[in-house]
Amino acid sequence: MRIVLLGAPGSGKGTQATILTKTLNVPHISTGVLLRQAVQDQTELGQQAEAIMNRGELVPDDLMLALIKERLSQDDAKPGFILDGYPRNLSQAEALDGVLAELNAPVEHALLIHVDVDHIVDRLAKRAELENRSDDTPEVIRKRMQVYEEKTAPVTGYYQQQNKLTQVDGLGDIEEINARISAALGH
Ligand code: AP5
Repeated sequence: MRIVLLGAPGSGKGTQATILTKTLNVPHISTGVLLRQAVQDQTELGQQAEAIMNRGELVPDDLMLALIKERLSQDDAKPGFILDGYPRNLSQAEALDGVLAELNAPVEHALLIHVDVDHIVDRLAKRAELENRSDDTPEVIRKRMQVYEEKTAPVTGYYQQQNKLTQVDGLGDIEEINARISAALGH
């Protein structure tokens, strides 16, 4: 199954993908995780991305496309994937369709996890205490939300036009939300 998870920062994409990867037996591909690893390893990509991520802005599309293309071409992604954090703007959505057309493996489902802003701020403030992620400061969270509204939210329309979009309520217990997602996927 080939799935794109959409939703604001803190909506639970990573949390739900961690469960889905086991039940669907396809890899969870998170561009945020891949980028944080690159930063930690201080690769060329990591060095280019670090300051941008710390400001809550988007890493340039060409760097992201190279990263995702390489990851999707790996063998474990052949049976499918759960994409978390990509695409993040319309140009990335179009680029992804291009890459997947070459692989003859189009996106099947785009799932939007909806959570209101108050709950998101609450969740990210809690995560900041636990995980110390450098972009979970109040100022950078505000910036990430703004970038989401301006650039990422329109991506939902892109998948709606393709009749691939389902919105899921992202409030409640993690298991409850997972059940909603599984039902939406018919799984
Ligand atoms: P990324 O890592 O993708 O960050 P994000 O989209 O802001 O997502 P988060 O990881 O904050 O949230 P999430 O939706 O995964 O929620 P989670 O499950 O963690 O990107 C980071 C940066 O990398 C970007 O700002 C950008 O700079 C760069 N980047 C990444 N991809 C890019 C791209 N394609 N193009 C350009 N730049 C890119 O949950 C959040 C918290 O809530 C957790 O603590 C969790 O335990 C808790 N939680 C989850 N579910 C529940 C629940 N049901 N109830 C209560 N708490 C819950």
